[in-house]
Amino acid sequence: MHCRAHIPTSLLSLLLAWCLIPLASVRAYFIVNSPVSGTVWANGAANPVQWTKGLEDGVDSFDIELTRLSQQGLTFVAQGVPSTLSTINVFLQDVPTGNDYYLLFLNSTHGLMYATSQKFSIVASANASTPAAATGAPTVTVSGAPNPLQAFATTFPPSANGVASPAWRALDGALPQAAAVLCTMALGVLGGAWAVL
Ligand SMILES: *[C@@H]1O[C@H](CO)[C@@H](O)[C@H](O)[C@H]1NC(C)=O
Ligand SMILES: *[C@@H]1O[C@H](CO)[C@@H](O)[C@H](O)[C@H]1NC(C)=O
Repeated sequence: MHCRAHIPTSLLSLLLAWCLIPLASVRAYFIVNSPVSGTVWANGAANPVQWTKGLEDGVDSFDIELTRLSQQGLTFVAQGVPSTLSTINVFLQDVPTGNDYYLLFLNSTHGLMYATSQKFSIVASANASTPAAATGAPTVTVSGAPNPLQAFATTFPPSANGVASPAWRALDGALPQAAAVLCTMALGVLGGAWAVL
C-alpha cells in the first residue's frame, strides 16, 4: 500500500522545516584561525587576527570585541568588518597583561555571536614568541583596559556589496552533505513509520 502518497502536506512542510535547521548550521561556519590557545599578543605591536567563514551564510559584516574570562568588560575592537576580509591586525597600547583573553565575533546590535577565539595571552612587549603583523591587512588600534563607555576603535565603511541576503539564500547552493544525510535519514524514518501504520 502506498501510504506515502497520502502524507498530509502539513506534515511534509514540518519535515522540510526540520530538515532546514541542520542545513542552516552547516552553512554558517565561522572559524577563528588566529589567535589560538597559546598565542601571545604584545602591547606596542600589531597582532594578527585571522578567520575563515562561510560565504553564503548571510553575514556580510560583523563586529569584533576583546574580553577576559576573569574580569567583566569588553573592549570594542572593530565594527562592521566586511566579510570580504579574512585578516586584520590589532595594535595594542596599554592593554592590561593577562592570559585569559578572548576575541568575540558577533553582531553587537542584537548580540548574535558568530564565533569566539580560543583563550590567548597579552604581554607587555613584543619578543621572540609574539606573532608578526599580517602584511596587507588593515590595522586597528586598541588602548587601555575594557571600558564600556569607549566606542569601537575602528568602524569599517559599509562594504560595496553589503546587501543583506535572505537567510534562506543558502538553499540556492548544493545541499551540504551532512544535511542531506540527515534529511535522508529523517525521510527514511518517516517512511518506515508510515509503512508500519
Ligand atoms: C547587525 O544586524 C543589524 C540588524 O539585522 C544590521 O542592520 C547590522 O548591519 C548588523 N551589523 C553588522 C556589523 O553587520
Ligand atoms: C616573552 O614574554 C613573555 C611575557 O613577558 C615571557 O613569558 C616569555 O618567556 C618571553 N619569551 C621570549 C622568547 O622571550
